[in-house]
Amino acid sequence: MRFLSTLPLLLGAAFALPSPEDIQERATGSLSSWLSSENTVALQGVLNNIGAGGSKASGASAGVVVASPSKSNPDYFYTWTRDSALVFKALVDQLIAGNKSLEPLIQQYISAQANLQTVNNPSGGLCSGGLAEPKFEVNLTPFTGAWGRPQRDGPALRATAMIAYSRYLIANGNTSAVNNIIWPIVQNDLSYVTQYWNQTTFDLWEEINSSSFFTTAVQYRALVEGNSLATQLGKSCPNCVSQTPQVLCFLQSYWTGSYALSNTGGGRSGKDANSILTSIHVFDPAASCDSTTFQPCSDKALANHKVVTDSFRSIYSINQGIAQGSGVAVGRYPEDSYYNGNPWYLNTFAAAEQLYDAVYQWKKIGSISITSISLPFFKDVYSSAAVGTYASSTTTFTSIINAVQVYADSYMSIAQKYTPSNGALSEQYNRADGTPLSAADLTWSYAAFLTAYNARANVVPASWGASSAKLPNSCSSGSATGPCSAATNTNWGNPGTPTTSNPTTTTGGSCKTTPTSIAVTFNEQKTTSYGENIYIVGSIPALGNWNTANAVALSASKYTASNPVWSVTINFATGTSFEYKYIKKAQDGSVTWESDPNRSYTVAGNCAGTATENDSWR
Ligand SMILES: *[C@@H]1O[C@H](CO)[C@@H](O)[C@H](O)[C@H]1NC(C)=O
Ligand SMILES: *[C@@H]1O[C@H](CO)[C@@H](O)[C@H](O)[C@H]1NC(C)=O
Ligand SMILES: *[C@@H]1O[C@H](CO)[C@@H](O)[C@H](O)[C@H]1NC(C)=O
Ligand SMILES: *[C@@H]1O[C@H](CO)[C@@H](O)[C@H](O)[C@H]1NC(C)=O
Ligand SMILES: *[C@@H]1O[C@H](CO)[C@@H](O)[C@H](O)[C@H]1NC(C)=O
Ligand SMILES: *[C@@H]1O[C@H](CO)[C@@H](O)[C@H](O)[C@H]1NC(C)=O
Repeated sequence: MRFLSTLPLLLGAAFALPSPEDIQERATGSLSSWLSSENTVALQGVLNNIGAGGSKASGASAGVVVASPSKSNPDYFYTWTRDSALVFKALVDQLIAGNKSLEPLIQQYISAQANLQTVNNPSGGLCSGGLAEPKFEVNLTPFTGAWGRPQRDGPALRATAMIAYSRYLIANGNTSAVNNIIWPIVQNDLSYVTQYWNQTTFDLWEEINSSSFFTTAVQYRALVEGNSLATQLGKSCPNCVSQTPQVLCFLQSYWTGSYALSNTGGGRSGKDANSILTSIHVFDPAASCDSTTFQPCSDKALANHKVVTDSFRSIYSINQGIAQGSGVAVGRYPEDSYYNGNPWYLNTFAAAEQLYDAVYQWKKIGSISITSISLPFFKDVYSSAAVGTYASSTTTFTSIINAVQVYADSYMSIAQKYTPSNGALSEQYNRADGTPLSAADLTWSYAAFLTAYNARANVVPASWGASSAKLPNSCSSGSATGPCSAATNTNWGNPGTPTTSNPTTTTGGSCKTTPTSIAVTFNEQKTTSYGENIYIVGSIPALGNWNTANAVALSASKYTASNPVWSVTINFATGTSFEYKYIKKAQDGSVTWESDPNRSYTVAGNCAGTATENDSWR
């Protein structure tokens, strides 16, 4: 992360080995007691780095994740779209697991992202490529320095985080908030992915401009669950439908025969924790051990786990003497030279998490299949492993489950060994002696701990629909340009339009039953900026009696750049007359009135029971 290889930064010399007194005292004690205390530290570590209230995020806007409080050597005091999305996905999963107090922060994150989508930046504007800008200043202004851009995993990961929260809202009867607030933001990100998935990108470590396995995989996932969300909302994403088979097809091309090539460019081996991170971020607890979607328990993902983790065994001094089948310190890729190339906490946690996920899947499925592809992985942990399928009733199944669980724990124990006693997680730890290195309190390190911890406890995220994977017969390139417009509604306090009563039907021109109330839809054309909301206020109680504090909010769910319409549907008794105006409320609460005169409306009866009033701001 954070290192643009084309810049002449010679970091190595500045990071000589620490003196013995710098070496932190290591945490001791059993793994499980460390895990439970670290769980508290990690959640707090995440929260400390989120604005506006986080103790280490001073200056960051509400809902904005600071990558690390470190402002020099290295300076990570920025907000990255990828890191933020992964962090908030982890927090949404904590919410779903029962911590309701996280919900306001999740809403602030989504509101901040709606704003960020509209910020013009060196990658472009909202509808011209800007969504893949990798990082911003923490007050949501653009970062204009040289950087590895674009990074096309960002919009996909952000969609995934928001969709996870959307599922939760829908399950709790709150579809209107999803429709009115979240969907317009998600839709922009989905449109970004359908348009650009087949173009090169800087990888998640921000170094190589080529195709990246992680990026393609998370793009596939976002399109699948984006389309499911659209369907659930009664909307559609035809471009998701047209592009997903091609993205999945392209994903298969990274397989080398024994591991996934993490980047198609860059001239490296392609053995990279990029691919282990892929398996945990496409994990679907309802899926089989499917290798086309690189499920953690699939033969390809397990073979890959071995190849990638083995690539670090001989190159780090702290891994010397550790036997095959026991966890090691895991870095990014063996050729890494950033800070001289070291293990990273988040990759060490990811190596454990993939295995916890696999154990979960095998238990759920009720069997383990060993293929010639995955046999080398299994032999490391269970020497008599042989190709075959072992049902949960067999002792082989039980032995392998236990062995893989122990193997997964051994990665967590490595991280424990090199975590200082206060539990602080930096980005890296020294390959020679395990001392923490690089950015302190890396938010992603803490989030990676939380997700590994939950996987170990069988607290798994929701299914995203991996089982729907269908490979086309042949791959083709693709791009589809979809809807894109500013998502202006971030009014969480009043997210829904009241539901309209069922209109009565007519027969032969006369009303079957005469409606006594009419659902009037007010459509108001008004171009707004981020954070501004439109309300209706008027002379009757239903419209707040001219009191702006009691005005009724309009929804921006139909708002587009070309048709900036705000609307609301309100029920009135037939015959009601009133005066009204629209008002605009800014983020700071200040109110702007439409100019005079007052508008007036009389609710005329009709058989349908509905009426529409089209206005435009004056
Ligand atoms: C729930 O989240 C809050 C922050 O909103 C945190 O302080 C608290 O420790 C969390 N509770 C649990 C059980 O993790
Ligand atoms: C675009 O997709 C085609 C078909 O899968 C593939 O051969 C090509 O490498 C892709 N290019 C990029 C840059 O994604
Ligand atoms: C990334 O690679 C593509 C394809 O080779 C090229 O067109 C593009 O200019 C490169 N972008 C950057 C920022 O180097
Ligand atoms: C729906 O979300 C809104 C805004 O957060 C909240 O006020 C309301 O209580 C939620 N309703 C349900 C049923 O969860
Ligand atoms: C609009 O209605 C308000 C409240 O009755 C009134 O004070 C105001 O004078 C009216 N405006 C005009 C231009 O009639
Ligand atoms: C209001 O506008 C909509 C959309 O432009 C249009 O379909 C409808 O006929 C209009 N209704 C009235 C009463 O003007």
